[in-house]
Amino acid sequence: MTQNGENIPHGHKPANPQRRQLLATAAAIGVAPWLLSACTAPSASTANTAAPAQPAGTGILPTSQRRKLGALEVSSIGLGCQWVPAAVEGSVSDRYGSTIDRKTAINLIRTAVDSGVTLFDTAEAYGPYLSEEVVGEALQGVRDQVVIETKYGFSFDPKIAAARGGRDSRPEHIKQVVEGMLKRLRTDRIDLLYQHRVDPQVPIEDVAGAIKDLIAEGKVLNYGLSEPGIQTIRRAHAEHPLAAIQNEYSMLWRGPEAEVLPVCEELGIGFVPWSPMGMGFLSGTITAETRFVPDGDREFRVAVPRFAPDNLRANMALVDVVKDWAQRKNATPAQIALAWLLAQKPFIVPIPGTTKIAHLKENLGAAAITFTGDELRELNAAVAAVHIQGDRLPAGVLQMSGIEAPPKR
Ligand SMILES: NC(=O)c1ccc[n+]([C@@H]2O[C@H](COP(=O)([O-])OP(=O)(O)OC[C@H]3O[C@@H](n4cnc5c(N)ncnc54)[C@H](OP(=O)(O)O)[C@@H]3O)[C@@H](O)[C@H]2O)c1
Repeated sequence: MTQNGENIPHGHKPANPQRRQLLATAAAIGVAPWLLSACTAPSASTANTAAPAQPAGTGILPTSQRRKLGALEVSSIGLGCQWVPAAVEGSVSDRYGSTIDRKTAINLIRTAVDSGVTLFDTAEAYGPYLSEEVVGEALQGVRDQVVIETKYGFSFDPKIAAARGGRDSRPEHIKQVVEGMLKRLRTDRIDLLYQHRVDPQVPIEDVAGAIKDLIAEGKVLNYGLSEPGIQTIRRAHAEHPLAAIQNEYSMLWRGPEAEVLPVCEELGIGFVPWSPMGMGFLSGTITAETRFVPDGDREFRVAVPRFAPDNLRANMALVDVVKDWAQRKNATPAQIALAWLLAQKPFIVPIPGTTKIAHLKENLGAAAITFTGDELRELNAAVAAVHIQGDRLPAGVLQMSGIEAPPKR
């Protein structure tokens, strides 16, 4: 495998040597990086699929509702494109047990473009490389109409990964991997490039310095950070203005409300919530009886504490809130979850992931849902009244979130 992934084949089989090597790397470094986590918890059946209420909106995003991530203008809802190799050659899987063939994934992205979506999220680590390849192929003909955001920051070389806790944001590494990203994304520039996780061994000033060089070369237009600590945000922004922070945020995990959102507001930085649907939980298709089936890194939720049986049962109170509001607003639970995010701040742009065109269209309908001030206060209070049980991520993955880089030299 070359560093830029040029000779990484599409649709790896789970048992191929590269895959085994990646999983071994995760085990060797004693952490469960987002991309490498092998899920082993026992479970019984998959999610059931309760029928949604009536979808709201037209499934087309109006240009009048565009939002700003720093200087970048994007559609109010983006599309998350996180796919890993499926068990079936030529297909891709999300991290939540759904598999689609590559053609369907490309069609999904193109349908999103036709529906007014301009923001597409991917990462070098998704696959790795596979998601960027699919996104690049899908967007090739419409490159100038869209904003592509991707992420660097992990090492896929077992020796380097073991020595560096899985992460690698050394300036020379960033510059090297960007070359591979440009090839896979079939473009000459990355609109928004994130550091996927803070690298405690590299001062954020050095990371920003590498990005500034890439911006000067025209290979990167804007940059962001994913799951950084507050001081890291301030220090990076002082070096060069950040366009966006990408953290987990939804009704199910409201951590960013304490510090990150206020800092974004203060500094004029956009905010992109990942897992805006709570990894599918807020769509109302999961019940207290749902058990997730281990399937390598194709079903992540088996390893997530808040979805463990007892926690899941307690956390269903939040689904009741979402379903109640779906009825009140003549919408679906998924739409309420996204509309709630959009209503929190005007600089928030969620990137829901889906494998289905019907869900894509349904999700875009969230942009048509508004809340009065009183409604929003009531909904916020109902959400806040539910005390979510269980951590949002497995311990090894959580460890990498919000870690502060060493003090400025
Ligand atoms: N920066 C980071 O560290 C980070 C981490 C994780 C994710 N991300 C990004 O964030 C994106 C979104 O997050 P996510 O995919 O983890 O979680 P999510 O968007 O909260 O949830 C995705 C799940 O929700 C389901 N879903 C979506 N719309 C639905 C609907 N209308 N009705 C019923 N189910 C629905 C999907 O199933 P169906 O396929 O059946 O629709 C899928 O199982 C990812 O694609 C990725 O780009 C970033």
